[in-house]
Amino acid sequence: MKKKMMRAVGVVPHKKEVALLEHAAPEITQPTQIRVQTLDVGICGTDREICTFVYGAPPAGSDYLVLGHEALGKVTHAGPKVKGIAVGDLVVPSVRRPCPDPDCRPCRADRQDFCATWKFNERGINQHHGYMTEYFVDDQKNFTVVPKELRKFAVLAEPLTIAEKGLSQVWQMQARLPWACAKPGLPKGTGLRAVVLGAGPIGILGAMTCVLNGFDTYVYSRSPKPNPKAELVESFGAKYFSTTDTTPAQLAEKVGNIDLVYEAIGVADVSFGVMQVLGLNGVFVFTGIPAPEGHITIEGNQLMRNLVLKNQVIIGTVNADKAAFQAAIRDLGEFKKRWPKALAQVITARHPITDYRDLLVGKSSGIKHVIAFK
Ligand SMILES: NC(=O)c1ccc[n+]([C@@H]2O[C@H](COP(=O)([O-])OP(=O)(O)OC[C@H]3O[C@@H](n4cnc5c(N)ncnc54)[C@H](OP(=O)(O)O)[C@@H]3O)[C@@H](O)[C@H]2O)c1
Ligand SMILES: [Zn+2]
Ligand SMILES: [Zn+2]
Repeated sequence: MKKKMMRAVGVVPHKKEVALLEHAAPEITQPTQIRVQTLDVGICGTDREICTFVYGAPPAGSDYLVLGHEALGKVTHAGPKVKGIAVGDLVVPSVRRPCPDPDCRPCRADRQDFCATWKFNERGINQHHGYMTEYFVDDQKNFTVVPKELRKFAVLAEPLTIAEKGLSQVWQMQARLPWACAKPGLPKGTGLRAVVLGAGPIGILGAMTCVLNGFDTYVYSRSPKPNPKAELVESFGAKYFSTTDTTPAQLAEKVGNIDLVYEAIGVADVSFGVMQVLGLNGVFVFTGIPAPEGHITIEGNQLMRNLVLKNQVIIGTVNADKAAFQAAIRDLGEFKKRWPKALAQVITARHPITDYRDLLVGKSSGIKHVIAFK
């Protein structure tokens, strides 16, 4: 029987092409799988990077890779052994799938975000087709159900998981400090100060998470004020400073003891510059992924002295586990209640699939662009 075909956006690496493709509609093949109709797919720097062919690989046997890893969909079919997800539910899929190594303890414990072999694959990124197509199928364990009232925003869940996992790691790190930071009933970050580096989608969603967690939150990014991103972050209670007119030392003077730096720019020299002003007992979370080549000079002696004498922690984090997806959905609900206008502004525009080329290889602008399939 001839397979039903769907439209999909993907890359054809051997032709160096970004194209609208014909892709076979997937069917459920396992009793625990669900079939999902795609509603929204977010575009991010990773997709744009794959379209420059420095990164990303098709699945074995395919000469193309369907893009898209930030998605929201609606369940249209559920296998006979699916529990807790029903036809009609809104769902957000995760991205990374475990490696096959029986000795990979993180993957065998469903924590492929910590995969110990680096042989995992990622939907829409590496060796596994993504969600920039009309329907997709996956095991139910790779989905988180979304309340219907988050229909407009849940496409932001995946990029928000980076902050959720990052912050969960921070609280685990800070469990080393044997005293409670906040008064009972107040968010854990109350009385603490967070600096978020960058005002892209990862930085803005990170800053919202910090404000929600009670931190006095400062966003430190390139563009000078006034600019729309600065206005957006100040509308939900963070303060904005630009690297063009405020040095890290001046920033630290304004902030006080910097308890947390959440880095979301992917630029090493700026990040290590800010690390020099990380406060006593502070944690520095790296999320940015700079290009591997190139060298920078850092103040190694000063940084090492600070790390030791100020009891500091540096961690890197790559998204994300199931708990982070659940936290992201919960916090999107909170953001919507508290800052509906700001949350809506994180999504710059929704586009038809035919805009794919402009979005993926055109000049980048705004914050988060979304391809709306429905
Ligand atoms: N760890 C993970 O799992 C994960 C997942 C996804 C993405 N990421 C990484 O997270 C980082 C941020 O992603 P994004 O999508 O938010 O990026 P983005 O849209 O490119 O935003 C980057 C932000 O950093 C600012 N910036 C860039 N260069 C700067 C500099 N030299 N000095 C000061 N500010 C600078 C930009 O300022 P302007 O506003 O002035 O342009 C922008 O606000 C990227 O490196 C990405 O690779 C990590
Ligand atoms: Zn992304
Ligand atoms: Zn693994």
